[in-house]
Amino acid sequence: MAGKLVIGNWKMNGRRVASETLVAAMLADPRINRPNVGMAPPAPYLALLAGWLEGSHVAVCAQDASRFAKDGAFTGDVSAAMLADIGCQYVLVGHSERRQYHGESNEVLRAKLANVLEAGLVPVLCVGETLTEREEGRHRDVIRHQLSVLEGVDPRRCVVAYEPVWAIGTGKVASLEQIAQMHADIKSWCLQIQKTDVTIRTLYGGSVKADNAEAILSIDDVDGALVGGASLEVESFAMICMAAD
Ligand code: G3H
Repeated sequence: MAGKLVIGNWKMNGRRVASETLVAAMLADPRINRPNVGMAPPAPYLALLAGWLEGSHVAVCAQDASRFAKDGAFTGDVSAAMLADIGCQYVLVGHSERRQYHGESNEVLRAKLANVLEAGLVPVLCVGETLTEREEGRHRDVIRHQLSVLEGVDPRRCVVAYEPVWAIGTGKVASLEQIAQMHADIKSWCLQIQKTDVTIRTLYGGSVKADNAEAILSIDDVDGALVGGASLEVESFAMICMAAD
């Protein structure tokens, strides 16, 4: 499938000058500067990134959005409406690091999803099992439960990113069979959960690098990649984007 989606999640990395230089180098590379590529910087750099990307093909993606209102007394929060206001297009929801360090539950994620959708943005719901859950054979139940927040959500307006927690930042990639199986399962569970016959887009994340991107992105049910570490370096991100094109 042509034009799979690639989002680079910078996590809590980068400083203004270095990031501006990095983005300029990436935009000069036609393998990266094309539709269906997004970048997700830390919140303070979102509006700057929107400016740097102006006139390019690359989309702005936020790493999180508030579960509360559009505005109000929620110190430290950034609303989805504000993200839309500065030109953001995608928002990660429920990344495993948010689930782990901020205790984000399904209830919280439901509220975030609703706010992101109401703001007209595309939520990228991140799901994934821990190593223990996989070793105990509970990974399918865990993912199915995490996907339940998509009940009532139009599959054309959201994306799922499958990121096995044990493969994030570890250099351990799930096998191609594991990736293919889980993506097929996610698509079929979403048809039931969302009560639809429209198939949801699914991305794979977890140690996607220049040397494994082509094999992962060749899997039919994999509609793109959510890339952490390798999105912070021009050549590796370019190779991944090229594998997705
Ligand atoms: O959001 C991205 C994922 O957590 C993957 O990170 O590519 O550094 O393993 P990684």
